[in-house]
Amino acid sequence: MVGWRARGWQVFEAEPAVAAWLECAGPEAIRASRDDGLRATWLRHGGTWFVGVDALPNGADGAVPGGPPLGGRALAEAEAVTGRLPLHRAQVSVTYPGYPARDPDESAAAHRFRRDRDAAHLDGLLPIGSGKRRFLKETHAWILGIAVSEASPDAAPLVVWEGSHRPIRAAFAEAFAGLPPENWADMDVTEIYQQRAPRGLRHLSARRASASPRTGVLVHRHAIHGVAPWGKGAKAAPGGRVIVYFRPETAAVEDWLTLP
Ligand SMILES: [Fe+2]
Repeated sequence: MVGWRARGWQVFEAEPAVAAWLECAGPEAIRASRDDGLRATWLRHGGTWFVGVDALPNGADGAVPGGPPLGGRALAEAEAVTGRLPLHRAQVSVTYPGYPARDPDESAAAHRFRRDRDAAHLDGLLPIGSGKRRFLKETHAWILGIAVSEASPDAAPLVVWEGSHRPIRAAFAEAFAGLPPENWADMDVTEIYQQRAPRGLRHLSARRASASPRTGVLVHRHAIHGVAPWGKGAKAAPGGRVIVYFRPETAAVEDWLTLP
């Protein structure tokens, strides 16, 4: 079977280590998604997406209070590439029926991009200033999502442009060539991101990296990904489709390009 490093993503079936972790972390994730203060901060797109950055109260080993550390094959595969990395508080991402609705302050173009193009993006390239110029401010090692709730495959699934990690890596290797890694974050990469990524996208098909509860999805740090709209007739548990995401940063900036 072709693995995640070749394809840019892989779904890992449910297994006991992940189920044991979710026994404590799952209820914490759902509690966070129902917290009034967090909802006031993190609801977007007409209330159809709870973004939930840093919303899970886990430690560096992924354990929430009273629970075991995160384990399982997906994490093991990721750490085989990067070594053990301290985990940040996980994102608790929840989508609801109707995603993506439009926020009053959202431009028509931004809404269309989310509705028609799955808001395809690369993590870590943050938009800075009023011109929303892009800079590599966060060098993620990998993205690991763990599905918490029951949802049908068309309920706003994560989509990954399979193979997109290769042209993206090539583009950034070219852009950063000869530049010391400590200066990478200061280089405006807006053009390379806007021109090279969409060109790649035209030739690649989105794959629905759909996941039922307790499955993990591992995404390569250079893979273009997004979230598809909530399908007509799609179903999920009453609390929405809940996925917990870890995106630890690389130990050194240059790892972002040099690791497999
Ligand atoms: Fe992302």
